[in-house]
Amino acid sequence: MSEKTSFNQNKNLLLGVTGGIAAYKCADLVRRLKERGFNVRVVMTPGASEFITPMTLQAVSGHPVHQDIFDQAMEAAMGHIELAKWADLLLIAPATANTIAKIVHGKADNLLTTIVLASKAPLMIAPAMNQQMWANSVTQSNIEKLSHSGVTVLGPGAGEQACGDIGAGRMLEPLDIAQQVQSIAYGDKPLTGKKVLITAGPTVEAIDPVRFISNHSSGKMGYAIAKAAKIAGAEVHLISGPVSIGEPFGVQVTRVTSAAQMFDAVKNSVEGVDIFVGCAAVADYSPVEVSCQKIKKNDEEMCLLLKRNPDILAWVANRAERPYVVGFAAESQSLKFYANKKLEKKKLDMICANDICCEGLGFNSEDNQLLLLDKSGEEKLLNVASKEVLAQQIIEQIAMKLNEA
Ligand code: C5P
Repeated sequence: MSEKTSFNQNKNLLLGVTGGIAAYKCADLVRRLKERGFNVRVVMTPGASEFITPMTLQAVSGHPVHQDIFDQAMEAAMGHIELAKWADLLLIAPATANTIAKIVHGKADNLLTTIVLASKAPLMIAPAMNQQMWANSVTQSNIEKLSHSGVTVLGPGAGEQACGDIGAGRMLEPLDIAQQVQSIAYGDKPLTGKKVLITAGPTVEAIDPVRFISNHSSGKMGYAIAKAAKIAGAEVHLISGPVSIGEPFGVQVTRVTSAAQMFDAVKNSVEGVDIFVGCAAVADYSPVEVSCQKIKKNDEEMCLLLKRNPDILAWVANRAERPYVVGFAAESQSLKFYANKKLEKKKLDMICANDICCEGLGFNSEDNQLLLLDKSGEEKLLNVASKEVLAQQIIEQIAMKLNEA
């Protein structure tokens, strides 16, 4: 199944790989870029091949990898000037402090730096280095100079580094780079100026200090929607139940545990929001009483009295000043019928329905298939794809509806 989205018109992207440990992620990066319709060719610096083999990148890109400016055969096939002209976009990932410094000074001492100097294509770099090297005032001043001259700097992210340090300097994940490159390449920011509020993940309802009621939601769909909305230019606030996914780049995240806390967080944040996406798997019920002591297992049977949790999505949709409201429906039978009922009952603008009986799709899995139903009766099937690709399609659909309104 193709994961290309409708944004793509096959631009030529030259990926420069330099010698940092994050180079090992470039095979995945090439795959993510190709999924998005880019024609990818790879240039490696001599240091890069210490971390990933040219053969790997040749296999995933489907083209010979260019490494040496003095390689007669390569130059005869496609010379450095031809490569520089071929590229609609230049992306250097990972970009080491060394290559960044060379570009600032206009050096042309290897194939990659020569191409950068010889190309008119927009340049994007995803820096990757030790946190101290990133924090160094020389690197910071180099980055500032590049930004001033129109180079797009993607990241870096923060966190644990290969050397054991913790801090800023990690290369962004391949998926984040690919999504940002795509939105920059196609100038597609349909949600610029819009505020988006999203709920994601499960909620956890305490029974006593050690036990709880919850569900298997991973939060992946909601987090992917948050990323896609951010890339589409929106200001994004994600209210998340307990999940084990990293925070999406540039998104405000509020962490909650229970449905009641998620409801409070939504109430506190919904003012002025243009789009609300209720993606969380909110527990339908919570214990009437939460025991402060661990409940003893004295009896053969025990009764737990539960009360209905507030329906956060319906509450948002029933406000006088309401945003565009999108909900989700996980159904095990008569998908369209029950999803439509939910759309009407909760007064939603759009519902994204999925059949939970399809193996390998939906809850806690990487892929999904969705049926989008609109309050005007329109429907659109989004075929099986990764949650990231589906999230982008949902955001495209929402943006289209908002523009129609
Ligand atoms: O009614 P049901 O739980 O199937 O509806 C699912 C949709 O409603 C999802 O979008 C979910 O985020 C939202 N919901 C909610 N609050 C609840 C229950 C569901 O926001 N208490």
